[in-house]
Amino acid sequence: MNNKTLNDQEFEKKMQALTDEATLEWMQEKSREFMKIIAYYRCALMEIETKFNVLNQEYSLQHDRNPINSIKSRIKSIPSIREKLKRKDIPATLEAIEENINDVAGIRIICAFPEDVYTLSEALLKQDDITLIAKKDYIKNPKPNGYRSLHLIVAVPIFLASEKRVMKVEIQLRTIAMDCWASLEHQLRYKKDFEFTDDMADELLECAKISAELDARMNALRDRLDLDEQN
Ligand code: GTP
Ligand code: MG
Repeated sequence: MNNKTLNDQEFEKKMQALTDEATLEWMQEKSREFMKIIAYYRCALMEIETKFNVLNQEYSLQHDRNPINSIKSRIKSIPSIREKLKRKDIPATLEAIEENINDVAGIRIICAFPEDVYTLSEALLKQDDITLIAKKDYIKNPKPNGYRSLHLIVAVPIFLASEKRVMKVEIQLRTIAMDCWASLEHQLRYKKDFEFTDDMADELLECAKISAELDARMNALRDRLDLDEQN
């Protein structure tokens, strides 16, 4: 029988054969706790997404334009969590994951213009239930490879039936042009059986510069339209 196609019952039977009752119960309890924490991270993502949707709504009423083009969110996969624990030499406990891994819950806000990135992040950080834990501004200071985005790690409370939990969320804010560059760069860098040469890195850096110039010019165009509206 192929192990990959074991159903839950078969898996449980196999595990019972391998482990005693107490160990099995302990493992089930741990797995329940893990799933509970993952559900809390999902709730935190919903909170943050709603906050950005509210800001988008308000802005569009005031300025007749949406600053947010799209929102993507994800929970880090179990293999990625495991890989990060190993890489950073962190013990594999729930407490250690919550304490040390800041991107279990991740949300990406794709904005129309660079100015929108800052308007939205400032509006979010002003909210009294949001705590800023860390900020990396790769727009003002791009990474050497050309990567641009504004990264925030925030803590947000989620209100459960009988308790309040504060969860961490990684927020990446970027423009459409920054997102396009980052997605393609990621695809190229992680392509299987494919050698990433210095030449290609130089070309990507050049593309990042073109993308930054595109953002600057589009932002300037937007400023001109805003001025025309005011006159
Ligand atoms: P981890 O990369 O999560 O271990 O943490 P870090 O402390 O190095 O975080 P950083 O804020 O620099 O990057 C976090 C995330 O930003 C990554 O997981 C990617 O999603 C994105 N990112 C950072 N650098 C790059 C890059 O050079 N290219 C692309 N495509 N994405 C990047
Ligand atoms: Mg990450």
